[in-house]
Amino acid sequence: MPDPVTARVAAIPRTIALVGLMGCGKSHIGRRLAAALGRVFYDSDTEVEAAAGRSVREIFADLGEPAFRDGERKVIARLIDGAPVVLATGGGAFIDPLTRAALRERALCVWLRADLDLLVFRTAGRTTRPLLLTGDPRTILGELMEKRYPVYAEAPVVVDTRNEPSEITTERVLEAIDAHWQTQTRQDR
Ligand code: S3P
Repeated sequence: MPDPVTARVAAIPRTIALVGLMGCGKSHIGRRLAAALGRVFYDSDTEVEAAAGRSVREIFADLGEPAFRDGERKVIARLIDGAPVVLATGGGAFIDPLTRAALRERALCVWLRADLDLLVFRTAGRTTRPLLLTGDPRTILGELMEKRYPVYAEAPVVVDTRNEPSEITTERVLEAIDAHWQTQTRQDR
């Protein structure tokens, strides 16, 4: 038997889309969220890679970032078109105006907000993220925070992620979604 919060969130007829910077935990928390809600989980980067038949890094190198954003937009449009799922979006997806408009219209967007130290720590040693390979990751992530945080703030649900067990973050995400949805539906009545 799911607890009442999980049961209420599971009944929300919308895809839950996690947005936020690289390393904030979208995929990790997204998987846990999907398991708790009994929903299918998608990671937009994985789906873009499957559609393109190459890795994100190869797409950036061979075709360029604009081509990646086009593919990402198409993939996300497809994923939010069907039954409600949990979707972890790539860090730049919500920054693309068209993708953001689609996500805001069709999904319930949750920003996983994290501080710079946590993002640097979580992304360290990985070579899969092309944007972090062009210079000092801390400097790049700091610049992206400045540019992107005001945009992520358009997500209706914001959860601060910390260096804590992922079950706790997942629980806090469920509670934040539940509180938001209850307020929203009360306002609609
Ligand atoms: C990007 C984030 C990555 C991936 C690509 C570009 C970005 O996804 O989509 O490397 O622009 O922030 P994650 O946030 O899942 O690492």
